[in-house]
Amino acid sequence: MDRAALDRVLHTVSRAPSAGNLQAYRVYVIGSPQKRHALAVAAGDQGFVAQAPLDLVFFADPDRSATKYGKRGATLYAVQDATIAACFAVLAATNEGLSTVWVGAFDESAVRAVCDDTKRRPIAIIALGHGAEDPRETSRRDLAEVVQEV
Ligand SMILES: Cc1cc2nc3c(=O)[nH]c(=O)nc-3n(C[C@H](O)[C@H](O)[C@H](O)COP(=O)(O)O)c2cc1C
Repeated sequence: MDRAALDRVLHTVSRAPSAGNLQAYRVYVIGSPQKRHALAVAAGDQGFVAQAPLDLVFFADPDRSATKYGKRGATLYAVQDATIAACFAVLAATNEGLSTVWVGAFDESAVRAVCDDTKRRPIAIIALGHGAEDPRETSRRDLAEVVQEV
């Protein structure tokens, strides 16, 4: 993968909004085949996680957010910070012509072990690369089902 494109994606990640601008998250860039394989296993043997040339693993940093926001920071804001950062990665990667898969089904302790991080909480794995296929657009619920004016 083009290093400059990855750097632009990571820069965009760093521009994501976060509670109190604390950026209470950490991103691990997983490139080694052994670690990608271990991640795929941690994600219930989802093989594409190992096939992708890179995986970005987003962790929430509850302690960091708690320094300013206490329990709400630890349980909510840190998770939101990490999630928004991952969303920015997805959008920036798409802008680079790359494909992503958001992976939320994984064993947290196994992902912690792969990233050697016991302090933070893994929130999402973003498999990143050039798509092997060009899937059809997926459906969505009607707007009226998900949006309500009150
Ligand atoms: C919280 C979350 C968890 C997800 N976990 C997985 C996963 O473990 N494996 C997978 O293949 N896709 C996963 N996805 C991707 C969704 O299945 C996918 O976004 C959805 O089916 C809509 O398809 P689209 O994104 O291609 O439009 C996840 C998405 C989200 C937001």
